[in-house]
Amino acid sequence: MPVVTVERQDAIAIVRIDNPPVNALSAAVRAGLQDAIAEIGADDGIKGVVLIGAGKFFIAGADITEFGKPPIPPILPDVTAELEALDKPVVAAIRGAALGGGLEVALACSDRIAAKGAKLGLPETGLGVLPGSGGTQRTPRLIGLKATLSLVTSGRRIDAEEALTLGLIDAVAEDDTLLEDAKERALSLAGQPRRRTGALPNPANDPDTVAQYRAKHRADRPGQFALSQAVEAVVASIDLPFAQGMGRERELFLECMEGPERAALIHAFFADRRAAKVPEASRGGALEVKSTGVIGGGTMGAGIASAMLLNGLTVTMVERDQAAADQGRANVEKILNGSVQRGKLTAEKRDHLLQDGFCASADYDSLGEADLVVEAVFESMEVKRAVFTELDRVCKPDAILATNTSYLDINDIAAETRRPDSVIGLHFFSPAHVMKLLEIVVADKTGPGAVATGVALAKRLRKIAVRAGVCDGFIGNRILAVYRQCADYMMLDGASPYQIDSAVRAFGFPMGPYQVSDLAGLDIGWATRKRRAATRDPKERYVAILDRICEREWFGRKTGRGIYRYDEGAPKGSPDPEVEAIIDAEREANGVSPKSFSDAEIVSRYMAAMVNEAAKVVEEGIALRPSDVDVTLLYGYGFPRFRGGPLHYADTVGLKKILSDIETYAEEDDFFWRPSSLLKDLAARNASFGSLNADD
Ligand code: 3HC
Ligand code: NAI
Repeated sequence: MPVVTVERQDAIAIVRIDNPPVNALSAAVRAGLQDAIAEIGADDGIKGVVLIGAGKFFIAGADITEFGKPPIPPILPDVTAELEALDKPVVAAIRGAALGGGLEVALACSDRIAAKGAKLGLPETGLGVLPGSGGTQRTPRLIGLKATLSLVTSGRRIDAEEALTLGLIDAVAEDDTLLEDAKERALSLAGQPRRRTGALPNPANDPDTVAQYRAKHRADRPGQFALSQAVEAVVASIDLPFAQGMGRERELFLECMEGPERAALIHAFFADRRAAKVPEASRGGALEVKSTGVIGGGTMGAGIASAMLLNGLTVTMVERDQAAADQGRANVEKILNGSVQRGKLTAEKRDHLLQDGFCASADYDSLGEADLVVEAVFESMEVKRAVFTELDRVCKPDAILATNTSYLDINDIAAETRRPDSVIGLHFFSPAHVMKLLEIVVADKTGPGAVATGVALAKRLRKIAVRAGVCDGFIGNRILAVYRQCADYMMLDGASPYQIDSAVRAFGFPMGPYQVSDLAGLDIGWATRKRRAATRDPKERYVAILDRICEREWFGRKTGRGIYRYDEGAPKGSPDPEVEAIIDAEREANGVSPKSFSDAEIVSRYMAAMVNEAAKVVEEGIALRPSDVDVTLLYGYGFPRFRGGPLHYADTVGLKKILSDIETYAEEDDFFWRPSSLLKDLAARNASFGSLNADD
């Protein structure tokens, strides 16, 4: 089947792009469009043209699987130029999505009409490139400089109504009359001089706005390369004539293609979608979930309940007693009130959700109708066992029973029930109504139906699901524990926590490990360390600095002191000389003569620890593929997206280099730095983690 067809309907030619799933502008589509343009240009009987996408979408953009490979002609800027040069009115009929190159094709048409519900945008910078087929030159001539800079740098997808208000399109249609309306417009424009956006005047200069965007997106800042290039391309539209502006755009676009971010961001795009492919889920039917139960109304229970409510599910919360249930309800109310304050939810909708969609009690019997229950009680095996015994008693036979445990063995929890095939881990991240990641933890006896239900729930909650196996900490927390420990070793050996945080931020994380610890509360890690003290291997180096800090009841932000000081009214924490003195004392007590670390060495060690543990997680089958680890760290732990995730980053550094770093560090501590056999094997074969991502 040809991917582009031309159908004559009287004097109108309907050009239809049919390249499932999203009508991306592959080489075949570009060639097909070029042929269609030539055919229409040569046919005097055709008075007007409608360009439309088959299926759900107009065009989702360039075919990004072609990026990084030698370009196949015709290139898109040439196709859009030919489209714009056509001497007949061309109406773009936009349904579903016109994104990136898709919107650029529409902008090269003489007229644009979008169905209600369509989304339009220029999301290229999110993929490490910039609109490269006239988006930076045609858009400002239509909607002005400021609106273009906002659209291009945010990558925001706007709806048809906003696009109309901005002047990006000419009309909005009902979905079922889109084609007819477009044909009518094409007929009414026939014979009139053709509008060409490129012939419109250049946008007016606005030096303040330009200065503001240039300052916000400086190329020398991590993750800002494509954004700063995109700003420059748009700015070029102020002074350069259209054709030269197009040339400048192309130059900047090609630099992005070769730039530091594109491969990582495209990897992250496909990694997200690959993670959703969970083998068990395709073998089992998902249970339809309408009514849910949440056990525990603390930090996580309230967040999970809110996520469910905000996505159309009803919630029955069960707490220890009525007072705790009332507190659980108050916690949920507080979260929903926050959504109202931020304008995400109306007060009426909140009241409706709380009255009709939510109840909280101490009565397990109220869970009889729940399709899926998530347990989020204290992290104690004893308490969780008791909860699952109750759930097994009261829940209907096909209900899915999930635990949000962070570290406990889900096989042991499942064994408490007579239906271990229905038991699964659903590991949310805090705050659960905000964080995008959901680890779906598959225990030994978890059935495919439970997995399929978990994956479908993630989608319903608009979260990214990653399948994980059972181990201490699953994918994310297990890796976190190791790179966190590496940071503590560097702190004991001579680096200050403030330097470590700053080096990690400069790499691209929004916060350093000690800022994160202060925010989460140092008492949590302290309790875990105490619990594990008895089973700790004597060969493991132990860093007691944070214990010393906790003994002073400095638990972080919530107590005003932790690793940082949080002075009244100060916007952020500041380094604390008393903490530095505690660190010095611990060094002395351990006979450590402090050495100095460069920021680069801090990052090398931190990343080597992260990559090594991540490799072990893949090697043991805890993660299905390297890109699942990347997705976990990207969405749950603040790993900078423009670096693609730890294992993609490792590929870019080179696995031989990472391995040789680990071997060097192992000369100091061969217990902590034990290289993963997968890493050794890949390095020896000159292979990459990417080669293990099935469809890469
Ligand atoms: N190129 C190649 N494949 C693409 C693609 C693209 N631009 N966009 C989506 N796909 C693939 C996905 O990988 C997925 O494949 P799979 O089924 O094998 O996993 C399939 O299409 C369906 O995609 P989604 O799962 O994302 O489907 P949704 O219905 O949830 O979303 C969408 C559809 C909103 C179109 C979303 O896919 C999307 O946002 N796509 C990217 C849009 C984009 O960023 N476009 C700009 C590209 S860069 C560009 O145009 C440069 C130009 O300026 C020159
Ligand atoms: P929390 O202490 O804030 O809340 C726990 C709640 O469970 C309390 O309200 C308590 O009254 C209730 N509870 C205890 N026993 C109960 C019982 N038998 N029946 C009903 N309710 C009972 O704890 P938090 O932080 O919400 O953690 C809950 C679970 O989520 C733990 O397993 C934790 O490891 C996990 N988790 C925590 C994350 C976090 O960042 N806090 C992140 C991801 C998972």
